[in-house]
Amino acid sequence: MGSGGPATNGAHGAAGIDERRMASRPRIVSQMKAKRTPPRAHIKSAALAKAGRSKIEWAEGQMPVLLRIRSRVARAKPLNGIRLACCLHVTTETAHLMVTLKAAGARIALCASNPLSTQDDIAASLVKDFGISVYAIRGEDRATYYQHIQAVLAMGPHVTMDDGADLVSTIHKDPARFGRDILGGTEETTTGVIRLKSLDAQGKLRYPVIAVNDADTKHLFDNRYGTGQSTIDGILRATNRLIAGSVFVIAGYGWCGKGLAQRARGMGAHVIVTEVDPVKALEAVMDGFEVMRLADAAPRGDLFVTVTGCSQVLTPTHFARMKDGAIVANSGHFDVEIDLPGLRRMSRRRQRVRGEIDQYVLRNGRRINVLGEGRLINLACAEGHPPGVMDMSFANQALACEYLVRQAARLKPHVYPVPPDIDREIARLKLAALGVSMDRLTPEQQRYLSSWELGT
Ligand SMILES: NC(=O)c1ccc[n+]([C@@H]2O[C@H](COP(=O)([O-])OP(=O)(O)OC[C@H]3O[C@@H](n4cnc5c(N)ncnc54)[C@H](O)[C@@H]3O)[C@@H](O)[C@H]2O)c1
Repeated sequence: MGSGGPATNGAHGAAGIDERRMASRPRIVSQMKAKRTPPRAHIKSAALAKAGRSKIEWAEGQMPVLLRIRSRVARAKPLNGIRLACCLHVTTETAHLMVTLKAAGARIALCASNPLSTQDDIAASLVKDFGISVYAIRGEDRATYYQHIQAVLAMGPHVTMDDGADLVSTIHKDPARFGRDILGGTEETTTGVIRLKSLDAQGKLRYPVIAVNDADTKHLFDNRYGTGQSTIDGILRATNRLIAGSVFVIAGYGWCGKGLAQRARGMGAHVIVTEVDPVKALEAVMDGFEVMRLADAAPRGDLFVTVTGCSQVLTPTHFARMKDGAIVANSGHFDVEIDLPGLRRMSRRRQRVRGEIDQYVLRNGRRINVLGEGRLINLACAEGHPPGVMDMSFANQALACEYLVRQAARLKPHVYPVPPDIDREIARLKLAALGVSMDRLTPEQQRYLSSWELGT
């Protein structure tokens, strides 16, 4: 695994990463003590740790639910002795999840769930300040990406924590090597859950997995408000374009698409939605958006964002009809929604015109600007979802992991939902942290709502 630039240690030789005492100690972060022996790691540079540490501390105040869970599990240690393999976007918010799971007693190895989503400073701080093994470097090539997955699985995990099911897929391709001690796993995103349900339906799933994405306190907030805001954030950081007055085409009106459509409209864009599901298309119409075929939207759009979880959504047929200067981006999990090989084939040349913008000059002379190499724009060009929303997603991850370990003997190989009481508890804790109170049903109301006889 790479040499030269990136800092490696442990299994991969090279320089050890210095341990250091924490200078300023925030409330909860300070509960984690720096490790004596540096963890195994393959990161860009340990020197970035200070910047990463500041970002982790800054996010802390926005993650009250996870912090509450952390202080409980730090005492109860429900994950004592558990080896936990994680494949997640290596971001500030993920750092808080890692620190929480370590406080619960787990031994953790973390790699990235996308080659462009790693924040190298966060990776450095996790290794240096928190003693967590991280294998992730922003911009890593395909071979390194999969080497990092294997490095994480080499720990022989009891539990896998995925965002896109890459750990599960790798284990299922070589179960004898990686899957011996597995109790179960958790999955963060829609696309991962789809892959797992497909394995389950074919009777090939080898261990229980909890679909964290499907918890209400995850997809209703993370996918909708998180993706809505952070996708716009990615587009703005990459392009510095004025959204007001632009024609903003969104492919997919699921949870992510709805959030994005709301936010784009809020910034003054004229939003066009494309869909393949008649119910979602109708919902978009009644939410006040124009809905049409993507081929018809192609000549009208200034900006196009795919957020479908499907492949080959924007294709040469569409590129050929787009205006000169059109901007295209993807916020779905994999980089298969925009047909970049097809775009390359119909282009005279390609050049990087600004940070994360590749401009393709078509043979007809028009220019198509692709953001973040067609990888999820909010992580490739911005910082992903803000901590205020990841607080709930990662509270679900932490509690689902604890539940899985506690119930392992009773769970069969299957995709399970997050237990509803966990979902409600997270909503309750978040409301309390926001200082919001709500009503309770009276006994009469409870009787009325559970009866078929009462009424006129
Ligand atoms: N960028 C992020 O940070 C982030 C966060 C959460 C989820 N995701 C990913 O975003 C994708 C969408 O997630 P979601 O939760 O909104 O899923 P969803 O299932 O709620 O919505 C997807 C929608 O896309 C539609 N669709 C499918 N194929 C289409 C096509 N060819 N053209 C037009 N519409 C099509 C479906 O009918 C559906 O309504 C997934 O890949 C998910 O993993 C990304």
